[in-house]
Amino acid sequence: MLTGLATATFPDGSTPAVIDVVRVAANLFSAGQETTVRLLSTVLKVLAERPDIQRLLREDRGLVPKFIEKTLRMESPVKGDFRLSKVPTTVGGVDIPAGTTVMVLNGAANRDPRRFEDPSTFDPRRRDARQHIAFGRGIHTCPGAPLTRAETRVGLERLLDRTVHGPADARRYRYLPTFVLRGLTDLHLEFTPAGEDIR
Ligand code: HEM
Repeated sequence: MLTGLATATFPDGSTPAVIDVVRVAANLFSAGQETTVRLLSTVLKVLAERPDIQRLLREDRGLVPKFIEKTLRMESPVKGDFRLSKVPTTVGGVDIPAGTTVMVLNGAANRDPRRFEDPSTFDPRRRDARQHIAFGRGIHTCPGAPLTRAETRVGLERLLDRTVHGPADARRYRYLPTFVLRGLTDLHLEFTPAGEDIR
């Protein structure tokens, strides 16, 4: 992708200013790093708190992708993002004049009871797993979604291979103090190796 950015031209053949390309590249790094870190740590937090779900995943690794989708819906790492209304409009009964900056809360929509039955119940076997908008929707849908799904699945599989569940009183969490991202500031895992038979 970086090669594509570095060699891209406008339709008339001209090239963008270097600083503009650098900004897009830097945004790509932060968009890809912060979010995936939050998702993976949240996935591990859910497993730490829910030994029953952890057991399910250990018994049936086929549930891992669905479990990741459930975590995306319920703990959306990007809580929301901004839009600028170009024309006057009405959303949910609220009049929005042209030129208004609106914060769209994907995380809240992902728990909307009109869309998801019993929205706050975490069941990795639910059928509506991929109907969330944790990656947005439309022309700006997150292009990193397939990458982050793969990274989280592989990371989680490796951890399940190498660990066993610890005691209930050994867990403490701190959240990022921001209204844009939902995730932990840091996560330290102590674990007992599951044995020598690891891949
Ligand atoms: C858990 C992981 C991730 C989440 C929850 C997430 C979420 C989002 C959301 C909500 C948007 C805004 C969509 C919109 O405006 O409608 C977005 C855009 C974007 N994401 Fe992600 N993302 C994740 C991972 C990644 C990764 C791994 C990359 C790149 C390697 C990435 C690159 C981008 C870029 C470049 C955009 C802007 C797209 C555009 O404006 O056209 N994201 N992401």
